Amino acid sequence: MLKNSLDVVVSGEVLTRDQHLDCMRDYHDQHSDWSERYFSRPSENGKSSYAVLNDSIGIPTHADFQILDLGCGIGTFCKYLDINAGSKLVYTGVDISGQCLKSAEQIFSSSQVSFKLSAADQLPFDDELFDAVVSHMAFTMFKPIPIAAKEAFRVLKHGGIFSVILPAVWSRCSQPNTALDSGIRVIIKDIFPNYAKNYGGFGEPEFFSKAGIEKFLSIYPEISNLVIDEFEVDFSGSIDEVLWGIKTFYWYQILSDDLKISTEKRLIELLHKVAGSYEKVHHSRKLALLRCEKV
Ligand SMILES: C[S@@+](CC[C@H](N)C(=O)[O-])C[C@H]1O[C@@H](n2cnc3c(N)ncnc32)[C@H](O)[C@@H]1O
Repeated sequence: MLKNSLDVVVSGEVLTRDQHLDCMRDYHDQHSDWSERYFSRPSENGKSSYAVLNDSIGIPTHADFQILDLGCGIGTFCKYLDINAGSKLVYTGVDISGQCLKSAEQIFSSSQVSFKLSAADQLPFDDELFDAVVSHMAFTMFKPIPIAAKEAFRVLKHGGIFSVILPAVWSRCSQPNTALDSGIRVIIKDIFPNYAKNYGGFGEPEFFSKAGIEKFLSIYPEISNLVIDEFEVDFSGSIDEVLWGIKTFYWYQILSDDLKISTEKRLIELLHKVAGSYEKVHHSRKLALLRCEKV
């Protein structure tokens, strides 16, 4: 299922909601901890994107506070919250990957933390239940996004915060590694001639620009004080570390075993070429924090 569904994305056809969900579920069932491993790196201000998300909520220390995390994976964001017996913070994570939630339940044992198997566009919660709805590197993968957004705003209290981290695909890094980026693009285009054209099969085109996101959110009258802040995360490292990161990308996962072997070889050659004598590869990516409030 994984291969077929992703193939469809890459070839440019449109997936139904259920095909897309199957595809996401299969991938994340198989690679539950990849997001935590990939995104725990510090951003330009020394914090990981999970910490940036946490800061954006401004959780009160003594009042009751309910947080919903959409596409929570193995619950990594929860590690950044100050959940203890004395705090009145309650965290709920939802995800469509049973394997992610199984791992999450093994990691967290607090009665203030719970997980639910659910798709973001059909949330099993009453209206106006949460003080904050957050999502870390998952929101643009939801399908259909407009319904997921509507659901998020439905379960959010008035005055509540909606805050998500997403890829800032529109923004250039301060010191882009052009040789690496274009080398990867050449490899991808050789394998999937349509890929570059259709890249974004996992996100609505609105989310490829800041103006698009503003336009997308403008149809929700309950939203105010929208802020979109970009920041850079450093994924630099040894050839092996950067190779691992590239191999977590969706396009790599759908390759046949033979193509995986030859593509890995090409990636290693490319990484050696750009690494220089220190064998360290400079590689960064821009992410964005999107934050708004429900009036
Ligand atoms: C890139 S991972 C991010 C996981 C986690 N938020 C983190 O950053 O560690 C995206 C997550 O979204 C989940 N997901 C994808 N589509 C979903 C949907 N429609 N509803 C709920 N979860 C979904 C995936 O199963 C996966 O766990």
